[in-house]
Amino acid sequence: MHILDKIISNFKNNKSLYIGEKLTMSDHMIQSAMLAEKSKCNDDLICSCLLHDYGHFIIENPDTLVKNNEDGEHESIGYEYLKKFFSKEIVEPIKYHVLAKRYLARDNKYLGLLTEASKISLKIQGGVLNDKESEEFKKKKYFNNSVLVRKFDEAAKKTNIKMKSIDNYKSLLKSKLI
Ligand SMILES: [Fe+2]
Repeated sequence: MHILDKIISNFKNNKSLYIGEKLTMSDHMIQSAMLAEKSKCNDDLICSCLLHDYGHFIIENPDTLVKNNEDGEHESIGYEYLKKFFSKEIVEPIKYHVLAKRYLARDNKYLGLLTEASKISLKIQGGVLNDKESEEFKKKKYFNNSVLVRKFDEAAKKTNIKMKSIDNYKSLLKSKLI
């Protein structure tokens, strides 16, 4: 199957809920992309948002992992897979969106805003970054975009908004294949 068809079919067929939340993983990712569009982000960032949790489609039992306090490292799994098909501009922020969450959680206000499920996964993912880790992260080329992906990610958990379909993003994804 062509990668584009595979992505579209994964979005359409995966009905599993986003871990601990009330919307599907597919809708969560589409909603992240919608927020990036609304904020007039460029197409690469919109694609990063759309695909940021793609690793969860690849991991077999994400819920079980969380229950067992295990980190499935979905960001790395998604990155390793997607980098074969999309540019660094798109896949690097995917790789670092969890690190961005751990960075942002240094701010107590941000930490307080995380949903319960997100607080639990933060611990499993290694917790809040220390000063040294945070400085290292800030030096990364895709630091800003990684933080943006994470911010849209965090906000994309609404169940009462009009959703786009993955079909609406097909031509954008196609235009970004390498
Ligand atoms: Fe997410």
